[in-house]
Parts: sequence; structure tokens; C-alpha cells
Amino acid sequence: MKKLIFLFTSLLVITSLQLSATPDEGMWLPMLIKRLNAADMAKQGCKLTPEEIYQVNQTALKDAIVSLEFCTAEIVSANGLMFTNHHCAYDAIQENSSVEHNYLDNGFWAKSYSEELKIPGQTASILVRMEDVTAEVLKGIDDNTSASDRSKMISDVSKEISKKAGEEGKYKAVVKDMFNGNEFYLFVYESFKDVRLVGAPPQSIGKFGGDTDNWMWPRHTGDFSLMRIYADKDNKPAEYSADNVPYKAKHVIPVSMKGYKEGDFAMIMGFPGRTNRYITSPAMELQMQYINPTQIKLFGKKLDTWKKDMEVDTKVRIQYSSKHASLANSWKYYIGQNEGLERLNVIAQRKKEEDAFTAWAKANDNNKKYADVMSEYSKVVEGYKDVVSQLFYLNIAGKSCEASTLIKHLKNVKTVLEKTPVDTKALEASIAEAKKASEEFYKDYNTQTDFHVVSEMLLLYVNDIPLAQLPPNIAKILAEKGKSNQEKVNKWATKLFEKSLFVSQEKFNSWLAKPNIKSLDKDPLVIFNNELNAYSSASLSPVQQKYASQTEKLKNSYLEGLMKFKKDNKFYPDANSTERLTYGNVKAYHPKDAVNFSYFTTTDGILEKYNKDKTSDFYVPERLIELIKQKDFGRYAENGVLKVAFLTNNDITGGNSGSPVMNDQGELIGIAFDGNWEAMTGDLVFDPELKRTICVDIRYVLFVMDKYAGATNLVNEMKLTN
Ligand code: ARG
Repeated sequence: MKKLIFLFTSLLVITSLQLSATPDEGMWLPMLIKRLNAADMAKQGCKLTPEEIYQVNQTALKDAIVSLEFCTAEIVSANGLMFTNHHCAYDAIQENSSVEHNYLDNGFWAKSYSEELKIPGQTASILVRMEDVTAEVLKGIDDNTSASDRSKMISDVSKEISKKAGEEGKYKAVVKDMFNGNEFYLFVYESFKDVRLVGAPPQSIGKFGGDTDNWMWPRHTGDFSLMRIYADKDNKPAEYSADNVPYKAKHVIPVSMKGYKEGDFAMIMGFPGRTNRYITSPAMELQMQYINPTQIKLFGKKLDTWKKDMEVDTKVRIQYSSKHASLANSWKYYIGQNEGLERLNVIAQRKKEEDAFTAWAKANDNNKKYADVMSEYSKVVEGYKDVVSQLFYLNIAGKSCEASTLIKHLKNVKTVLEKTPVDTKALEASIAEAKKASEEFYKDYNTQTDFHVVSEMLLLYVNDIPLAQLPPNIAKILAEKGKSNQEKVNKWATKLFEKSLFVSQEKFNSWLAKPNIKSLDKDPLVIFNNELNAYSSASLSPVQQKYASQTEKLKNSYLEGLMKFKKDNKFYPDANSTERLTYGNVKAYHPKDAVNFSYFTTTDGILEKYNKDKTSDFYVPERLIELIKQKDFGRYAENGVLKVAFLTNNDITGGNSGSPVMNDQGELIGIAFDGNWEAMTGDLVFDPELKRTICVDIRYVLFVMDKYAGATNLVNEMKLTN
């Protein structure tokens, strides 16, 4: 569930990237707010001081902002209770679900601590401090250092710095590259390993609108869930244990019942995953013409294949729900990004900016070193175009067999067996580890579905990639007997699925009971994957690696130059899963000619969209419909109206999912959960006219918890402010 999250007026108003950061644009580093943003934030109406947001020795807002790795959560009770999105907990809910305990469809609400559910593998990290370590990291590196030496030197010293800051495992510490290798920051976290699922609405509410509404406004999704951090008796991180106790929070975000109106100050803190705001025009072209279309086609096929099987079998539906939602999210993202790139003329705009940059570099003796950066970049991209589709087909279509993920576990067993004398302890441990991984894997695995995926994906592979560019083992499939490629592929895949031990839990377990190196080496899936990897390492990876190292250097120089060229601008680094703050306002938008969107939605929209067919994206439980029809909103309505979702112009992206949306006092007014269709190019270019953050109104969240689900125990844990 590696979540991600994220243009158009008749006359395009695209900010010339970072060049003129408007108040709403920018993912700012908490440590630098005081210097870069505090005055502006105060002017916009923020009542918090920079110290109340981030400081090291006293508690601050940052102590309530939690990284879930792929998403964000926020602490809303003294006992470590946190909100995140439903889609961030989707995997956790799915893993804990079965046909008998169908929490996905029915929701889940713990009535006491003891009912809270373990989430295997989930961590919750809270930032302790950050530090600029650029000077230390770049010591001894200059323009003459080769690319490979440079990256080795950076990686070595970064490891040293984080090791020291980790204090023997007390903290999780990482050094992160900012501004394409021009600056480096150390981040030190307290990372909790016992995180439990506390509550989630039925997915018909939490994912209302499904993939149809995903990435779109207007929205009526109750995209929230609750988790809790557990710690040892000293309030320190500990592995999962029944003896752990709820974490005593340093800062708790109050929940506001006051609501908001258009223009109100709004800010978001969280962990945006990845943006590419300084991307060059040739790289954008590559993305648009090669990478996105390939991903859209391959992901689309896989999704259709899953869907067919999910529709006919509830067990398969539960098994593949989370995988499907996560891939569908990326698939629609790439479609939206390509539509936007085309519609908004983004590439031509960027090219103009690059021409101005090159002209400046050429005209200025001190900056001649940047004069050829752009032309070099174009050349490097040109050389990569040839192999990029081949690479994507190999990795997505060639490696489409889900059961392949188990191979590494048996290889570990094999490694132990190959040493003489065999270390029996190590053998037992590797077998136990393989057993555990396989149990988790097979719980959500259907052999027939995997067979369908492999057949469909390989068919695309042999049909779309010219014979001369196919890896030999893929080309060989075409030598099977059969009238059509489809027949040949099916024949081949049938044999694979008959013979491989990985596609059957029974065969896998028998192997583990009596491990046999020979039969593993002879397994057709192992051989097939080995051959693909060998082909990739010999023919494709070298080109890819060369491309990566050449562009790394060019990106570094381009941004270094750009910051000199635009020395009066405030720059912010691209998102890289580190903590950021973005501030702006509650704000509507005008998506296209003659269309204006309101900045909030209400429960009326749920009734309008409602479809009583349970398989529809717009089904909700009858009980919710009744509460809405009777306007039984309790204290959560505003003049009799219950708002569901709203918009701000905050600058967020994937990873920010679940982030707190806060008012001028730092109180929770909503939870961020999506971006909008008209700004799907937002990870590349921020368009202030069109880019919006979609938030679920916290009062709708409380209404669902309290009135719909009766989870009043959880509402009572929070501090509501009026
Ligand atoms: N677009 C949302 C994000 O990237 C995820 C929404 C998940 N919902 C879905 N229908 N797949 O954060």
C-alpha cells in the first residue's frame, strides 16, 4: 500500500515553478519556517508562533505529526490516538478481514484497548529534531569530483552521521538530500513499532465514490480511520507486546467544531512523498511520451484482470481489494498527469524558462559552467528513449507473477543449506521466516487470478515489444504450438503454473518440510526470473544506470545554477518523505469555462450520488441514508447542514494523505485525503489557479463515529473546541 497521493483556466496561468512562490505554493521545512515563512504566515492570519510549530527542546505541533512511512497521521488524544485516512489504513483493515470478519465492508470499532487490532509491520515515527548537515556531507567534494566518487562519498558520510545520531538504536536517523544534492539535512525520529487499528468506517463510507471519484472534486468520501501508538512502560518505542501501553502524547491537536469559511487561513503538516518541481522539459517529455503511456496500459490490463475475478468471488474480492485500490490510484494518477501535460502546455512553458536560464548562463562569465546543462540533458534523454519501454515491460509484464515474491525466501533457505556443515539453527530460522512470509502472502493470493494476470501481461509483452527486443526467454514463448499469440502464451503459462511450487501453498509447504536445492533450482518460475534478470543486467540496466548517473549530475548543476539565476526567490526542496508545512487558505476553484465549484460539499451530495446496488462505488449503508434524511446530525451540523468535504489551496502530494488540516490556531478542521483532477500535473508544476487539496470535514468524521457507529468512547478521548 505504498501510497502516493498527486491545470486550467481559459488562459493558462502556470506559475513559473519555484520562481514566484505564491503563499500557497511550497512544502517548507519546519526548521526553516521561522526564517522563511513566519512573517508571511502571520500576515495571512496564522496565530501560532514558529516555536509553537517547531522547536527542539519544548513540545510543539511537530510532536503530534506522525509519519506512517507512506502516509501521515496526527495525534488527537493524550493516549496516542491518531487520525489518518481510510485509504492509509486500507491494507491494515484488509489484512485483518476475512469472509467471517469483514471489516472492509462492515467497518471496525474497538470499544476498549483490548479490542484494538495489531497492524503487522506498521511503524509510527515522530520527528525529534532536524539539522542542516550540508557542510559535513559535501566536505572534500568539488566540481572535479567524479559522479561515482561523489555519490560514494555522500553515502559514506551520511551513514556515519545517521549512525551517530541514532544513538545505538534509540532513534531512527536519516540524512536526506535536498535540492538535487545541493543541500543535506539530518532527520532524527522516535519510531514506534507497535501501532494498532482502532476504528474504520465501512469502505462504502471510507472509500465512497471509489475509483470513479478518486482524484476528483466534488467529493463525499469519509476517508478517515483511527490508529493508536503503543509504547513500553517508559513511553519508549518497543516491538509489539501485550504489555505495551497507549503512548502518552507530548502534544495533542485539539479538534475544532467551529468550521471554516472561504478565505480562512489553513495549514497542513505532514510527510509529502515525492515531487519533481524542478524537472526539465526533456524529462517531462520522456514521462509523457514513454513512461506514462506504458504504465497506463500495463496497469490497466492488470486491474481489469483482477476486477473480473473479484466480481465473481467475495473471497478474491477481499484478497485483492487493497492491491487493486493501490494500483488503481497510480493508474488514474498517470492518466490525469498526461491529460494535464497535454492540456496545459506545461512542457513548452518549462522550455521557455530553461531558455532564459541558458541565456543568463551564457551571458555571464562566472556562470559559464551552466551554459550547456540543458543541451546535455536533452542528449542524455535521447539516448535513454530506446530502452525505456523495454525496461518497463520487463519489470511490469515480465515479472507479473505475484508468487515470485516468495522466491527470495527459499533462496535464503538454500544459502544456509549450501554451507557445510549445515548450521541447523540458521536453517530453522530461515524456514520459520519463509513460513511466516508465505502465510501472509497466501492469505491474499489466488492461483487462478495470478494465472490470468501472467497470461494477460505476457500477451501484451509479446504483442507490443518487437521480436528483436524481447528477452530470449520471452521470445521462446512464441515457439510454443498454437494458432495465435494468445494460445501460445496460455500454453506456456499453463505449464508454468502446473510445475512451479510457488503458485501453490501446499507445494510450497511440502518443500519447506523437506527442503531440496535441486528442485528449487529446477523450478520453472525460478529459471524464468533468473533469465529475465540476466537479460536485464546485460542489456538494459547498464543504459539505465548510465542515464541515472548522468542526469543526477545535470539535475544538481541545473538547480544550483537556477538558485543563482533567481537569487531573490525563496526556494523550497522537492518532497522526499520528510516533514513539511504548507499554508494557504480555504478556497474554491474555477475548473473550466462556465463552471465554478463550491469549496465544500454536504450530505445532500451523498443522497444525490447514492446507488442502492451494493457493488456500486456509490452505495452506502441504509442507516447512513436514514440519518441524513432525518437530518439527525447531532452537534456536528452547522445551521442544520452537515458538511462532508472541503477545499484548500495547500501544497501537498502523496504521503500527505491523512495529514491534519488546521486553522489559524493549530486546531483540526479536516483531514487531507486527495488532490484534484484539473491539477494532476501538480507534482511537476504548481498551478495556483487550479491546485487544491481535498479534505474531509472533521465534523463529518465525528458524526460518522458518534452518530453512525456509536464509537462515542473514541470521540470522548478527544479535546473538542468551540
Ligand atoms: N488519490 C488518493 C491518494 O493518492 C488515494 C485514494 C484512494 N482511493 C481509491 N479509490 N483508490 O492519496
